Amino acid sequence: MLNKLFNKSKIGKHSMEVKESLKNDECLPYHIAIIMDGNGRWAKKRAMPRIAGHHEGMQTVRKITRIADDIGIKVLTLYAFSTENWKRPKSEVEYLMSLPQMFLNSFMPELMERNIRVEMIGDKEGLPSNTKSALNEAMEKTKNNTGLILNFAMNYGSRAEIVNAMKDIMIEVNNGNLTLEEVDEKTIDQYLLTSKLPEPDLLIRTSGEVRLSNFMLWQLAYTEFWFTDVLWPDFDKETFMEAIQAYQQRNRRYGGLKGE
Ligand code: IPE
Ligand code: IPE
Ligand code: MG
Repeated sequence: MLNKLFNKSKIGKHSMEVKESLKNDECLPYHIAIIMDGNGRWAKKRAMPRIAGHHEGMQTVRKITRIADDIGIKVLTLYAFSTENWKRPKSEVEYLMSLPQMFLNSFMPELMERNIRVEMIGDKEGLPSNTKSALNEAMEKTKNNTGLILNFAMNYGSRAEIVNAMKDIMIEVNNGNLTLEEVDEKTIDQYLLTSKLPEPDLLIRTSGEVRLSNFMLWQLAYTEFWFTDVLWPDFDKETFMEAIQAYQQRNRRYGGLKGE
């Protein structure tokens, strides 16, 4: 399957080289989720405004999307804005909200050429109309693409997601469409924003912070975690490969004794 992807990729001319740096294609993570952190500190180190860090972080999104596509990752979820990030100064929030439009407009031809599908998780209705329409437009344009799913977590909070899922399930129970006995883990999966996606295999967080910051609390139950001190704007192919190689060394037991 991987070879097929490489052969048909016109753009991925470096993909064989990238692929060769990975020892074992068989345990390539299917879904990688990234908490992209450290933009502000990257800018501060250079005596630049925080938004310059976010701008540079957007270039990293572009680079990492290309690499993920080249090596055959199927789902890339990027935590771009949390429900808690509204607490930041208005000017920073406004800049962050303008990024999807900037990114998607300029990247769209390549997304189409690469057959990448854009998706999002989060409270879309709470976004400013420009941000919402940029995301809607990108999702609509790419909806028939069958390659990498580029999934943005935007205005996303895992606890809010779980509360909403619980409410929706309760409504179904109240309406008699579902009984209490029928509610199980699969039901909850189906009512989360990630219902159509497999759980992440690998979670990467940059910038040295070792916490989840309200990201995919349910979905990460058996995900492999990998942390790096590298700030998101500096995150590159080498660091990404390091994370994937580390994942390939892990022994995922899911509570059992597999691989012992
Ligand atoms: C990550 O970088 C981007 C967002 C959270 C939107 P930060 O802006 O959190 O950067 P630091 O953590 O302040 O360095
Ligand atoms: C998490 O980073 C959110 C995103 C990367 C979008 P934060 O920088 O907001 O997280 P905390 O505040 O350090 O926990
Ligand atoms: Mg941060």
